[in-house]
Amino acid sequence: MTRWREVNSLLLVLLVLLDPQLAVGREAQENITLAVILPQSNINYPWAWPRVGPALDRAVRTINSDPTLLPDHHLTYAFKSSENQDGICSESVAPLMAVDLKLAYNPWAFIGPGCSYTASPVGFFTTHWDVPMITAGASAVEFYNGVYPSITNTGPTHKKLGRFALRICEHFGWRDHVMLMFGDDKQDDRPCYFAMEGLYEGLKSINISTQDSVFEENKPPINYSQILTDIQNSGRVLFVCCSPDVFRKLMIHFWEADLPHDQFVFFYIDLFAASLNSRQQQPWFRGDKDDAVAKKAFQCVKILTYREPQNPEYRRFVSDLKTDALKMFNYSLDCSLMNIIAGGFYDGLMLYVHVLNETMAAFRGRPPGKVVTRRMWNRTFHGQ
Ligand SMILES: *[C@@H]1O[C@H](CO)[C@@H](O)[C@H](O)[C@H]1NC(C)=O
Ligand SMILES: *[C@@H]1O[C@H](CO)[C@@H](O)[C@H](O)[C@H]1NC(C)=O
Ligand SMILES: *[C@@H]1O[C@H](CO)[C@@H](O)[C@H](O)[C@H]1NC(C)=O
Repeated sequence: MTRWREVNSLLLVLLVLLDPQLAVGREAQENITLAVILPQSNINYPWAWPRVGPALDRAVRTINSDPTLLPDHHLTYAFKSSENQDGICSESVAPLMAVDLKLAYNPWAFIGPGCSYTASPVGFFTTHWDVPMITAGASAVEFYNGVYPSITNTGPTHKKLGRFALRICEHFGWRDHVMLMFGDDKQDDRPCYFAMEGLYEGLKSINISTQDSVFEENKPPINYSQILTDIQNSGRVLFVCCSPDVFRKLMIHFWEADLPHDQFVFFYIDLFAASLNSRQQQPWFRGDKDDAVAKKAFQCVKILTYREPQNPEYRRFVSDLKTDALKMFNYSLDCSLMNIIAGGFYDGLMLYVHVLNETMAAFRGRPPGKVVTRRMWNRTFHGQ
């Protein structure tokens, strides 16, 4: 009898050793940690933490409160900034933060970075580690040419922008005299450079050749007569990307020049609609002596922006985002189109968790990153 009981308790001990879940009870949950790398404070970036953090935090709360999603697991995240001391995205800081997060938390996925120059080194690491990387930034075309198999983008990309420009040119039968003009100071994240690269690749795919005209914006004075000479020599269809003030000056110079104005069309690439903010949506208006000329010149202009989702879910999302940003960061969020990036991160995280949920059963735990990433691609997820 005594002997039997001894054996029995030995078995129990063995069971306890073999099954840690049993040891600490059913309610103990394994943590799934996500590593977030985004700019901590520079709200000029659409993926800055005060803009995106409230959405991610809400997504995590939603997921943890849903018993059908990741049962027996608790989702949590650790944040590190990709900024240097000057508040600029740094391609040397971001990969160091990625290594720190990897060692400290062994994260199941990376969220961000958003800037293209920081997403690139982190994207190489996540591929090497086989950890999914989810972002709604990193919009440069190079991220979608097969070089970064760990990255899933749930935001707008310049590859799609390029396809849109291609459709415009196809529709109107424009094949020649297409010109790409942009401001590029070769520092920070070069948004116009990467946007124009998308157009260049898109147009090249149907053999439309383009001319470039590049100028530096932060080293005045800009030589507008040089730009006008470029326009006159080789452009009729002009895609332009630069700050709203420089674009307005350029259009004023164009209108005052002795040119057949009706033979030119300008597409102003203003993805987040900065030129339409807070001036009664009148991009020519400054309240100065040039307003009249600028207004006439803008008759040759089409402004290309991202399209804000029109569904009620998105409106509710933005309203929640504002409330949460105020609570989390005491930050009063504007109504800008940049909020679609927060929406992209939110949807990206939800999509990741749904796919993870499906895959974990099959793998009895953490699935390989590749498997999760493959299943995320070419899937549509409707924000909720
Ligand atoms: C999960 O993370 C929380 C903090 O978010 C921590 O307090 C807890 O100990 C962790 N649980 C496990 C099982 O690691
Ligand atoms: C573009 O040019 C290449 C080489 O000249 C040719 O093979 C290809 O069919 C062309 N594509 C289109 C869409 O015209
Ligand atoms: C501006 O460009 C014009 C035309 O190319 C050139 O003649 C002129 O010297 C340039 N001006 C300056 C200040 O560089």
